[in-house]
Amino acid sequence: MKVRDPGLGYDEVDPAWNRRYPELAFAVDGVSLLMPYAEPYFVRTVRAALPDLEPGLRAEASTFCAQETSHHRQHRRFNDAMAEGRPGVARLERWIDRTYGHLERARSHRFSLAFAAASETIAFSIARWADRHHHDVFDDADPDAAELIQWHLAEEVEHKSVAFDVYAAIDGGRLRYTLAAITTFTILAWFTVLTILTLLVSTGRWRSPACWLRLPKWALAIAFRTMPDLAASCLPGHHPGDLVDPPGLVASLRVIDDRERVRPTD
Ligand SMILES: [Fe+2]
Ligand SMILES: [Fe+2]
Repeated sequence: MKVRDPGLGYDEVDPAWNRRYPELAFAVDGVSLLMPYAEPYFVRTVRAALPDLEPGLRAEASTFCAQETSHHRQHRRFNDAMAEGRPGVARLERWIDRTYGHLERARSHRFSLAFAAASETIAFSIARWADRHHHDVFDDADPDAAELIQWHLAEEVEHKSVAFDVYAAIDGGRLRYTLAAITTFTILAWFTVLTILTLLVSTGRWRSPACWLRLPKWALAIAFRTMPDLAASCLPGHHPGDLVDPPGLVASLRVIDDRERVRPTD
């Protein structure tokens, strides 16, 4: 595990960056809107547990925090460019901010750790889905948006076990994890649907019958990937390390690493 700089910049972001399936881009935009609020929450939660971890896991957890910090900073830039001239997106962000802020204040540190671990399970599951549907997600997509999503998902694969291990080291209770899994999945689904509707309206694509017809297909496909994975992760004996990594995303990390190696230093 290491921290990488994807070297991305966004002057303008079309929310419909996937030109073939704009509604699929809107769903990813919904997840992106959550990142500057969800990931700092995970980082603060895992950081607070560092003194109680054995040195090996502590080092991994520190790198996890650094990777997540890098993710939400990139998503902040992407989201700001995407929200330009779209007040509905800014309203959604305020609601997302209040939601995660409330969770962090109202729930125990152990619940927050379970929440981070379950959220990471969903991230890994989405990565597996995206890898299997690579052409749907990335063909004819804006290169900067595609690179952001690919890099983020690939690092989610790379650190898939860390939050889970931290939770196991501090608590590991399955009931608390299950409640946290239901909570994080509900928040993710709710704000993703709201973002899709907001962007369908603000881009005028609500008039496209094809978008409406495809939406249930994407929703079912992603739900049938993530829900069983999340349910399995609630069972005793589960460990994310037992799951097979998506090969395309693993390969994409190697490409980024090779590029960083040959990048001239100045
Ligand atoms: Fe992340
Ligand atoms: Fe993550």
